[in-house]
Amino acid sequence: MHQFQYKGNALYCGCLRIEKIVRRYGTPLYIYSYETILEHFLKLKNAFKEISPLICYSVKANSNLSILNILIRQGAGLDIVSGGELYRAKLAGCPSKRIVYASVGKTDEEIKEALTRGILMFNAESMPELKRINYICNRLKKKATVALRINPDVEPETHSYITTGKKETKFGMDIDTVRGVFLQASSYKNLDICGIHMHIGSQITKAAPFIKAIKKANQLIEELKKKGVDIRYLNIGGGLGIVYDKERPQSASEFAHRIVPLLRDTGLRIILEPGRFIVGNAGILVTKVLYVKDTSHKRFVVVDAAMNDLLRPALYDAYHEIIPLNRSHKVRMSENHKLVDVVGPVCESGDFLGKGRKLAVREGDYLAILGAGAYGFSMSSNYNSRRRAAEVLVKGNKVYLIRERETYRDLVRKERKTGDWR
Ligand code: LLP
Repeated sequence: MHQFQYKGNALYCGCLRIEKIVRRYGTPLYIYSYETILEHFLKLKNAFKEISPLICYSVKANSNLSILNILIRQGAGLDIVSGGELYRAKLAGCPSKRIVYASVGKTDEEIKEALTRGILMFNAESMPELKRINYICNRLKKKATVALRINPDVEPETHSYITTGKKETKFGMDIDTVRGVFLQASSYKNLDICGIHMHIGSQITKAAPFIKAIKKANQLIEELKKKGVDIRYLNIGGGLGIVYDKERPQSASEFAHRIVPLLRDTGLRIILEPGRFIVGNAGILVTKVLYVKDTSHKRFVVVDAAMNDLLRPALYDAYHEIIPLNRSHKVRMSENHKLVDVVGPVCESGDFLGKGRKLAVREGDYLAILGAGAYGFSMSSNYNSRRRAAEVLVKGNKVYLIRERETYRDLVRKERKTGDWR
């Protein structure tokens, strides 16, 4: 459930009519619901309360400082993957001891920054990375806490681009390698290697792949414990799927019901890294219809949002429901034009937000693209020199501008028109 619902013919966010917000802030506009973000976080927290895990929200899903701050205030930690996300974590007020850091390509500078900040742990993804962290610790006279990311080689049944726990992907280390590292852990003098991390993919709608992966991790942990290895943390990653279309994902409590029994007797501190589950359906992207363009072949609804604002349809062929802010408009449609493609102004045929949709719209109407809270703004770009959208957050009857719309000046802020080429 989320707060974006019709009351009569008008779409609302909680008690506020969205068209009113849009008239004030313009389009394209990302709108998030505080209540939905909170509800999703608390659902997960309550579902897992028996083992009270540290829930490290995955910053990449939506990295707006206000959204991070909301979650941090609820006790969440953060899962980061870059120096930039570490910087955001700090600005948003996240205690260092609630930050976990994954990524297959941490630079020396990023490792140094994270060590200096004293983060909870690195989720290391390769042997060379372990050596590098160990080396940098030595130079800085610091000790790093490290979890090893296993690649459990399980099929999460999701889009191949967001499958991360199969052996052909670049992520983590196979179980034999991880076993080897634990058994040689004392050779990494500056590392406290004490955890196992995994993240098998994203938008996973069933518990079975998680169960398979956790069982593999548990088996390894058992085996290592018998050999005297001290393992204290198990991070099962993120990946919980949400409803975009006709998916029937497990609820947080169904998920917990299947997963908790595998974790409760391990004596380990459990970490979760949800992103999409918390923010995905807590955000929409509102766009304005610029033109209704009929061709002999089909009708194109050209809107003012594009692939630079929401890349998911173009990149993954992802489905996002598109609905009008005002559903009272009656538009007569010919048989030919019943199904429309909603497209943006960007100069690529891949620039679409929805294909073959049943939508009766006129120029000037507003459309809401649902499920845009995760991997929406955070994957947006300035392609075609388009200014990135504004973001607002609705809490009760208040609207907060949490990111201003970019200006033309912003587009060129870092550029120089200097050089000798006359
Ligand atoms: N932990 C790690 C190590 C991750 O790499 C990710 C996501 C997460 C947690 C959070 O996953 P979530 O709970 O949000 O599924 N851009 C794609 C999704 C890429 C996910 C990348 N990693 C999309 O728009 O579907």
